[in-house]
Amino acid sequence: MGHFSVLSLVLGSLALSSIFGIHAESPYKYYTWTVTYATIYPGNFPPQTGIVVNGQFPGPTIEVNTNDNLIVTIINQLDEPFLMTWNGIWQRKNSWQDGVLGTNCPIPPGQNYTYTMQVKDQIGTYMYFPSTLMHRASGGFGAINVYKRSVIPLPYPQPDGEHSFLVGDWYKTDHKVLQNRLDNGDAMPMPDGLLINGLQNFSTDRVYTGEAGKTYLFRVANVGIMTSINFRIQGHTMKLVEVEGSHVLQEIYESLDVHPGQSLTFLVTFNGAIKDYYIVASSRFTRPTLTTTATLHYEGSNITVSGPAPSPPAFEVHGSMKQARSFRRNLTANAARPNPQGSFRYGEINITRTLVLANSAEKVNNKLLYGVNGVSYVNPTTPLKLADYYNIPGVFDINTSRDNPTPGPMVQGTTVYGLALHDFVEIVFQNNEATTQSWHLDGYNFFVVAYGSNQWSPVSRKNYNLVDAISRSTVQVFRNSWTAVLASLDNKGMWNLRSAIWHRQYLGQQVYLRVWNDETSLTTEYDIPPNALKCGKATI
Ligand SMILES: *[C@@H]1O[C@H](CO)[C@@H](O)[C@H](O)[C@H]1NC(C)=O
Ligand SMILES: *[C@@H]1O[C@H](CO)[C@@H](O)[C@H](O)[C@H]1NC(C)=O
Ligand SMILES: *[C@@H]1O[C@H](CO)[C@@H](O)[C@H](O)[C@H]1NC(C)=O
Ligand SMILES: *[C@@H]1O[C@H](CO)[C@@H](O)[C@H](O)[C@H]1NC(C)=O
Ligand SMILES: *[C@@H]1O[C@H](CO)[C@@H](O)[C@H](O)[C@H]1NC(C)=O
Ligand SMILES: *[C@@H]1O[C@H](CO)[C@@H](O)[C@H](O)[C@H]1NC(C)=O
Repeated sequence: MGHFSVLSLVLGSLALSSIFGIHAESPYKYYTWTVTYATIYPGNFPPQTGIVVNGQFPGPTIEVNTNDNLIVTIINQLDEPFLMTWNGIWQRKNSWQDGVLGTNCPIPPGQNYTYTMQVKDQIGTYMYFPSTLMHRASGGFGAINVYKRSVIPLPYPQPDGEHSFLVGDWYKTDHKVLQNRLDNGDAMPMPDGLLINGLQNFSTDRVYTGEAGKTYLFRVANVGIMTSINFRIQGHTMKLVEVEGSHVLQEIYESLDVHPGQSLTFLVTFNGAIKDYYIVASSRFTRPTLTTTATLHYEGSNITVSGPAPSPPAFEVHGSMKQARSFRRNLTANAARPNPQGSFRYGEINITRTLVLANSAEKVNNKLLYGVNGVSYVNPTTPLKLADYYNIPGVFDINTSRDNPTPGPMVQGTTVYGLALHDFVEIVFQNNEATTQSWHLDGYNFFVVAYGSNQWSPVSRKNYNLVDAISRSTVQVFRNSWTAVLASLDNKGMWNLRSAIWHRQYLGQQVYLRVWNDETSLTTEYDIPPNALKCGKATI
């Protein structure tokens, strides 16, 4: 508290805006959202209790331009503590606003918190969702579309329109039932189906319209808990243009895989006969395959969807890995800023630290837990970020983290990796389990330099793509395989690295990266926001 008042006296109100991460020169977008329970009607599932934002399921879409300030007040009217996280939004210098339990105290029932963020130097398709408990299984999610500033040309012609698709697996039971199962030590059940924008096979209600001959931008985000999905459109191809902020070499795909927590953007040209077509999402690598459909409607069409819906790609991992490797950056395209993305020569930077992170599942005291290098993460009651700021001891210890897979029984702990600001780290996600993993890093995009089978070893570096890898914030790791990423740690703060598969995250498959230097300076990190909620040992 003292910190804040001294600063405000010294610097005055104008400078204050940049202390807490908002920027007077960029436009402001305000949202006030009330989060409640409500009865929802997800397609041909029976009505159930869901989590809605201002009465909506899925929640409202956020539409901002690069560099806009985004001010979102969340009023929690659930009966449980709640946080919203902004998946893929970097929160530059501002992990205070990340909305995870390591950075923020949860908003108690009946209270509110105002997030103050800037969508700095970003463009693309993202999503928000609740980070607390298993809330995400009941809803609360929505789309974040970040548009370019007018001065930045896109590497493709201006589309004639666009459609957003939030796709994910779904359970007939609400998050409390699922959470009870997990808390009792039971495994997560298979989902009951898939939803596209909150509905299942409800073609009359979910119709996406366009005119013959025109080209539309489709944004797809996987908001689900567990399953990778495949997205495809009957009689149409998809030209991929953007993946979590990276403009890619624009290739044509018959179908695209989107793993939990991931998003991508592609163009669809309405070049078929004037009629209606199936839009299909199906689960990947599951038996049985879950499928849901929506309708692509040509203006003037009065011919309803017919014929077989396009079938899913082959079950094997091979095709999906091949597709993932085909995602490469367009080195001459702009990103959010008017510099070709390829000007950042990440392949020439020396690696300062390598973390090989192996996920695992194990019973500890009869309860199924998930972990990273043998440690299953436990959230302390005091957010790590507040413990750091107030120098509260005993919340975490940065020396107990393990840089390599560690044999032995799984233990529980609060794993924080201590890293220096401007470190250039290599992170290898080693998956020795038989299911696909999806990993997300807050605060950053990382370069996805390789996907490989079996065990990673230093020799694997020979095959890294050090030229035109895409940078993104969420990456899949195929079963019994590994994925390697490189990250330039230029964003000071406390950042969550987690499984995007939500029950795994909930039961311990996550860590934090503390990106730090000892200099206290507003040029590297904003100050604690004046409205920060206090909890645990930080109730000062
Ligand atoms: C948020 O909570 C504060 C403190 O309880 C209260 O004064 C304010 O009116 C609330 N804001 C909204 C939008 O509910
Ligand atoms: C790469 O970006 C340039 C510049 O915007 C664009 O003209 C070109 O079509 C893109 N190339 C591919 C293969 O996507
Ligand atoms: C939805 O429609 C698809 C395609 O017709 C079908 O394969 C699938 O079984 C349907 N799903 C449900 C839950 O009805
Ligand atoms: C289909 O719509 C067109 C006009 O949009 C109309 O002329 C035609 O009669 C309709 N056909 C049928 C079978 O309803
Ligand atoms: C990287 O490391 C090599 C060998 O250790 C050294 O010669 C080179 O100068 C380093 N490059 C940079 C940019 O630090
Ligand atoms: C952690 O490690 C650093 C250097 O490796 C050392 O200086 C520090 O004392 C250690 N801290 C604890 C709590 O063990």
